Amino acid sequence: VNDQAEASSCVDPRIEDVFGAPLRWRAQAALALGLRGDELLGGVSPAAGGPHNLTTVLHHLARGAAPDSIVDIGAGAGGVSEWFRRRTRAVVTAIEPLPDARTAAQYLFDSLDVRSGSAEATGLEDDTADAVVMCGVLSLLDDENAVLSEACRVARRDAPVAIVDLFSADTETLTSGPNVFRSLGQASVALEQQGCSIHEIVRSTPVPDPSWADAARRVDRWIDRNCHDHPAYAAWKADKRHLEEHIASGRVTACCIVARVA
Ligand SMILES: C[S@@+](CC[C@H](N)C(=O)[O-])C[C@H]1O[C@@H](n2cnc3c(N)ncnc32)[C@H](O)[C@@H]1O
Repeated sequence: VNDQAEASSCVDPRIEDVFGAPLRWRAQAALALGLRGDELLGGVSPAAGGPHNLTTVLHHLARGAAPDSIVDIGAGAGGVSEWFRRRTRAVVTAIEPLPDARTAAQYLFDSLDVRSGSAEATGLEDDTADAVVMCGVLSLLDDENAVLSEACRVARRDAPVAIVDLFSADTETLTSGPNVFRSLGQASVALEQQGCSIHEIVRSTPVPDPSWADAARRVDRWIDRNCHDHPAYAAWKADKRHLEEHIASGRVTACCIVARVA
């Protein structure tokens, strides 16, 4: 209980409204709609251009020995963690500060190792991960150095550290509401300052592949129908609109950055 209180207390309350109860709703919706296979993963984890951005990371994993352990930081309801687990058969540790999201991930994907922790303090040992993934998390956090130094501490030497997220489409970082949409330059420099070398940067549309987008839309509609009376609904809806407006304006782009720890 103390661990959980500690990890969730690092989360900005605006972020908790958007990802606490709403990630539990996504899991409830996915079950109620009978989503299965990749549709289930996309329905609960619709973020940042998945799954094509995740495939970029997978190609890097395939270049070395098969990974035994992958750490997914800020795992939410676990869709991305489970996507990597099913494709690699590695043990995937899903680190997530919010209890509602952890409960959803544990319930949906019982083969994941779901743990309480934050991006700044995962609670994991040094040099234990064959890959570290952060999907949709960095853009929620102000201090990239604290997060990237933790990711690199946990990663073994030469392991990929992959960031899949929304970034500024421009050379300037854009701060808006709870988000910091970093320029690719700022994110790359921050990784290099942690001793990483950048191996690949792939920009893509933020819209997921059609089957993921469709599953996510069905989940969103279920939430609209069933959760509109909940106190967190307005914050969830406003955040969704905020992101959609930025994407439609072209000011932000989805991107996958794969670095390796030197
Ligand atoms: C956009 S969701 C992405 C969830 C998951 N990675 C996915 O792609 O489905 C952002 C996640 O980051 C988590 N988060 C927020 N602040 C965090 C922090 N300081 N450390 C770790 N995770 C955090 C949220 O609780 C939420 O689960």
